[in-house]
Amino acid sequence: MMVNRNVRTLDEFTIQQMRDFPNATGELSNLLRDIGLAAKRVNVEVNKAGLVDILGDADMVNIQGEDVKKLDVYANNQFMGVLKHGISCAGIGSEEIDDFIAFDDPVSNNSKYVVMFDPLDGSGNIDVNVSIGTIFAVYRRVTPKGAPVTREDFLQAGIRQVAAGYIVYGSSTMMVYATRRGVNGFTLDPSIGEFSLSHPDIRCPDFGRIYSVNHGNFFRYEKPVQAYIDHCQRKDKHNGGPYTQRYIGSMVSDLHRNLIKGGIFMYPGTTDKPGGKLRLMYECNPFAFIVEVAGGRATDGTQRILDIVPTGLHQRSPLFIGSRGMMDEMDGFLGNDPD
Ligand code: AHG
Ligand code: MN
Ligand code: MN
Repeated sequence: MMVNRNVRTLDEFTIQQMRDFPNATGELSNLLRDIGLAAKRVNVEVNKAGLVDILGDADMVNIQGEDVKKLDVYANNQFMGVLKHGISCAGIGSEEIDDFIAFDDPVSNNSKYVVMFDPLDGSGNIDVNVSIGTIFAVYRRVTPKGAPVTREDFLQAGIRQVAAGYIVYGSSTMMVYATRRGVNGFTLDPSIGEFSLSHPDIRCPDFGRIYSVNHGNFFRYEKPVQAYIDHCQRKDKHNGGPYTQRYIGSMVSDLHRNLIKGGIFMYPGTTDKPGGKLRLMYECNPFAFIVEVAGGRATDGTQRILDIVPTGLHQRSPLFIGSRGMMDEMDGFLGNDPD
C-alpha cells in the first residue's frame, strides 16, 4: 500500500511548530512526542484487552477508593516511564498516584515542565470493549530550575496550562492536543505506526444538538440543572429541540464527539456528591483548556474552570463544558449571566 507522504506525522508537526519559533527549545515538542510514544504502547495493550489475561481488577483500590483495573496500572507506568526518561518533564501527578512525584535527577531537575494525567479514563468500560482514553495537562514549573519540583509547581490554576490533550482508544486511536495556538488531532495510522495529522485546527461548533449527562442521577441534581435537562428534552421554537442525549461514560469519548459535532457535557454535583465526581487537575482542566482554545466554554456551574485555584492534586469539581451557544443557554437556567 502506498503511504501518503503529504500527511504530516505528530513528530513532523511538532518539529514544524518548533521551527516556526526560532527561540523554542523544543522541550514541549519532545514532551508531546514522548506522550505519543506511551500512547502507542498503551494502544497495543488496549487492543489486546479482550484476548489476554489483562482483564479484571488488580486487587487494588486507588486513592479515590475506586477499583483499579490492570490496564490503569499499565498505562500509568507507561506514561510515567516515558516522561521520567525524557528530557522535558521534571515531575508528574497522576490519578493513580497518591502524591506528585518529582523525578529528582540532574536532567529532570533542569526540565521545564510538569505533567498531570489520567492514564486511563473510562476504565469501567474496558471489559465491554467501549472506547476509553488518556488525558494530560502540561504546566511550566514555577520554582527555579536546578532543584526538584514542589507542590507549588503542580497546584497552578488551569489557565496556566501550556498544553493539554487526550488520546482516545476508539474505532481508531487518536491523539488530540491543544496549545494556545490551536487544537489539532492526529489519527494513529497502523500501517506506519505513527499518529498522522487528520483533524487540523479543530473548532467546536457554537451550537450542537447533543447533550451528555448521566440521567440516572437526575433526581440528585439541583433544580436549575434539572430545569436545563428538561429544556434539552423539549421542543422549543428557539432551540430546535429536543436535543439528542448521548452518554458513553468515558468522558474522553463523550467530549471528543461533542468537540467535533458540537454539544454540551455535564457532570454536575449531586446531593450525595455536591463537588461532583470528576477531578479538576487531570480531567476538568485539560478539557476546559482544549475546549476554550477550540472556541467553547467550561464552568463548574458558577465559575470558569480555568480560573479555579486548586488546593489539592485530586480535588473534584462539577463540570459543564461544550459549545459556546449551548453553554450560554444553560447559564440562563443556572442563573448566571451568559458570557
Ligand atoms: P475514570 O475511569 O478515570 O475513573 O473516569 C471515569 C469518569 C469519566 O470518564 C466519566 O465521564 C464518568 O466517570 C462517568 O461517571 P458516571 O458513571 O458516574 O456517570
Ligand atoms: Mn477519568
Ligand atoms: Mn482513570
